Amino acid sequence: MKARRIVLLGPPGSGKGTQAVRLAKLLNVPHVSAGDLLRSEVQHRTELGLKAQSFMDRGELVPDHLVAEMIQRQLKETTGFVLDGFPRNLQQAEILAGITDVDRVLHFTLDRGEIVRRLSARRVCPQCGRVYNLLSSPPKQNNICDACETALTQRTDDTPEVIQRRIDVQYAREIGPMLEFYRSRSVLREVNAQGDVESVYRAAQRALE
Ligand code: AP5
Repeated sequence: MKARRIVLLGPPGSGKGTQAVRLAKLLNVPHVSAGDLLRSEVQHRTELGLKAQSFMDRGELVPDHLVAEMIQRQLKETTGFVLDGFPRNLQQAEILAGITDVDRVLHFTLDRGEIVRRLSARRVCPQCGRVYNLLSSPPKQNNICDACETALTQRTDDTPEVIQRRIDVQYAREIGPMLEFYRSRSVLREVNAQGDVESVYRAAQRALE
């Protein structure tokens, strides 16, 4: 398996974060998550975080230049990565191409009903960041993180209205031109994200071969 500069595309809730953690471990490269980085900026009330928060709360994309600078800083020091949540539109794909080549782009596909089902049941640990799902991967104790015993929370953008907006505004509207961009570079592979976590992981590994 030679690909080490990996980009994950897909609708919200398609498992990009879940699979990125596994693939990064497998390939021994950093997992760079645009969403996690932005949430950390918001939590620390940085200048970027204060600018980003209202976009994120509405389920809209944070302006390209703000996100691009943040991602560029993360990619500067590394020769391999699993990049999750960037790019989100054609302009960001072009920015990324100016920063680094990518070996493989995996596009996770999932139907709308399953997206809503997964995101409505997602819970996260505010302390260590571990992600759970009440339906597919619940914590051992009700609402308590297995790793650090902190009470789990729900992401503020995992409400039904914001989920629909994220699907429509961030994904459905933007994905077509990006797929074309990567298809024309022969790095795009489709991954059916409908199965359980293990079967999607196996499909993702096959797509890297
Ligand atoms: P971000 O955090 O990236 O949100 P997202 O793209 O909407 O993706 P999610 O984190 O919701 O889903 P995921 O695909 O990672 O799924 P997960 O593995 O968690 O971005 C947040 C916000 O930041 C954006 O809305 C935007 O405002 C801003 N932003 C981010 N990047 C930006 C950019 N480049 N430009 C501008 N703005 C940007 O899985 C979901 C749930 O399902 C979990 O509970 C999980 O346990 C479960 N699950 C996972 N896989 C399976 C499976 N196979 N079967 C059953 N359950 C599963």
